[in-house]
Amino acid sequence: MNTDICYLNGQFLPLSEAKVSVLDRGFIFGDGVYEVVPVYSRRPFRLAEHLRRMQRSLDAIRLPNPLPDTEWTKLTNELVARNGGDDLSIYYEVTRGAAKRDHQFPVGVAPTVFMMAGPLVTPARELVENGVPCITGTDFRWLMCDVKSVSLLGNCLLKQSAVDAGAAEIVLFRDGYLTEASASNVFVVKDGVILAPPKNHLVLPGITYDVVLELAAAAKLPHEVREIRESEVKKADELWLTSSTKEVLAVTALDGKPVGDGKPGPVFRRMWQLYQDFKQQVMRRAA
Ligand code: PDD
Repeated sequence: MNTDICYLNGQFLPLSEAKVSVLDRGFIFGDGVYEVVPVYSRRPFRLAEHLRRMQRSLDAIRLPNPLPDTEWTKLTNELVARNGGDDLSIYYEVTRGAAKRDHQFPVGVAPTVFMMAGPLVTPARELVENGVPCITGTDFRWLMCDVKSVSLLGNCLLKQSAVDAGAAEIVLFRDGYLTEASASNVFVVKDGVILAPPKNHLVLPGITYDVVLELAAAAKLPHEVREIRESEVKKADELWLTSSTKEVLAVTALDGKPVGDGKPGPVFRRMWQLYQDFKQQVMRRAA
């Protein structure tokens, strides 16, 4: 499916023709924010929540939102209409624009607004059935991890260390407590209870994280949001990763040791099914 059409500063155009200045502060300083919105059956999923999170990110970096939500919604729908494929992932990026290199914010500079579409690639059946191996590491990122900033060097370095170790992700700890993974949130299951770390400045408030907690509540699965010690993660019965693209994915080995019995656990299987049912009933529902 062709997903070649993007949007840049007021224009829809082929990705290969979209150009930004080398002085763009996104390029020079990583001075911008982004979002990734999944689209199911050509309908953006939880768009209002993604737009709210982007507004929070923009507020945190003191960059006025260049577009009202109605315009973001219109552009998102138009981007979907101009690209092929039923299930897409829509990427938004807003930077502080192009200006002479100087750390302080430029005055009177238009922000750069970019959107692109790609196929939404969710985990293959084999990964859902077997889970994935992860490693653990120290969360050395900055203290504004709740901001979906394009300054992702820390996340990229951490993710690459997982890839180098033949792992899918790196589960991160700061001061002895679980934060998240390089591009996903992390859930723990112990004695049948689903545990999630609280949303604070050390983790990205995942849209999928919210969905999983809502599904747990609706299905009356025991769950608790609280600080989780590194030792609890290492003794977990189950570990899950969540993100818009991974949905819910079981971690079956951590640092080379099996998690639980080394297979996706019963609570994971239940949650995975709830998520699929939810997708079928709510996300793919006729408009
Ligand atoms: N990443 N934590 C981090 C650090 C992330 O980068 C992501 C998602 C999440 C999960 O958030 P959500 O459920 O809203 O997708 C948590 C996206 C997919 C990315 O950077 O590509």
